[in-house]
Amino acid sequence: MIIEANDLTYSYGKNLAVDHISFSVDQGEILGFLGPNGSGKTTTVKMLTGQITPQEGGAKVLGHDVSKDLKIIHEKIGVCFEEKNLYPRMSVKENLEFFADLFDSSMNVDDLMKKVDISKWSDKRTETLSKGMQQRVMFARSLINDPDVLFLDEPTSGLDPISADQIRKMILEEKRKGKTIFLTTHNMMEADVLSDQVAFINEGKIVALDTPENLKLKLGLRNLKIKIRTGKKFIEETLPLDGPDTPQKAKKLLENKNIATVHTQEATLEEVFIKLTGRKLGR
Ligand SMILES: Nc1ncnc2c1ncn2[C@@H]1O[C@H](COP(=O)(O)OP(=O)(O)OP(=O)(O)O)[C@@H](O)[C@H]1O
Ligand SMILES: [Mg+2]
Repeated sequence: MIIEANDLTYSYGKNLAVDHISFSVDQGEILGFLGPNGSGKTTTVKMLTGQITPQEGGAKVLGHDVSKDLKIIHEKIGVCFEEKNLYPRMSVKENLEFFADLFDSSMNVDDLMKKVDISKWSDKRTETLSKGMQQRVMFARSLINDPDVLFLDEPTSGLDPISADQIRKMILEEKRKGKTIFLTTHNMMEADVLSDQVAFINEGKIVALDTPENLKLKLGLRNLKIKIRTGKKFIEETLPLDGPDTPQKAKKLLENKNIATVHTQEATLEEVFIKLTGRKLGR
């Protein structure tokens, strides 16, 4: 077990931001932490990376207690923070070199910039970069010490679709190298595509934790949709995949010469989240 949280809890004053949550992540796995604004994702990341100390319960990263062994943990993890905390007056390259020195890392900064596709901004001061550009520099910075565990707090938020996809590909590449990744997102597609396990977090509590496939099956919504052209119009029949007379009905429909489309339909993570919590994920 690379990350292990037991009853992890944190309140800001009377506001119980993270409420006794427990989960674990195996080596080489991605845990997607999916929840709406204010549900406690960043507070959880902060506890797991030692920026704040759990008030109840605790967590271990690589076998080390996050309340005690921070120095050892910090050498072995990479963090992509939600807040962009780069040195504004320093260039992209200077920022990365500064952190490479800090970690005593032998990582070649030019190679890293190439990999994350930010070489073209190498000499720009980071204060002159857009939010999305800074986000990519932050992602590069999280890899500077070739960490065993990555904590990524909404790493694709504010990115255009192509840049977001590039980052997702890099996340999967790190996973392939055996890295363990804790990823927060409010994007259900991202959680679905990247995660081995997804935790739904709502109001500080984990309301479900399973593989994306199992979560989607929870809602039991499995339909067959058959669209048939009738002159200029279409009619669509929706049949429950597990319905007793679905095979006969489907056979009859499929014999029609004017079939436009045939689809199976399963629940999305978003629909399951709404069903479980009564609230939407989107911003
Ligand atoms: N520094 C702080 N001081 C006081 N309250 C805070 C602080 N940071 C977070 N909170 C509160 O704790 C709760 C959880 O916030 P948190 O930032 O962990 O949510 P989140 O899931 O990361 O949200 P988002 O998707 O907006 O990033 C919220 O009610 C928030 O108002
Ligand atoms: Mg957050």
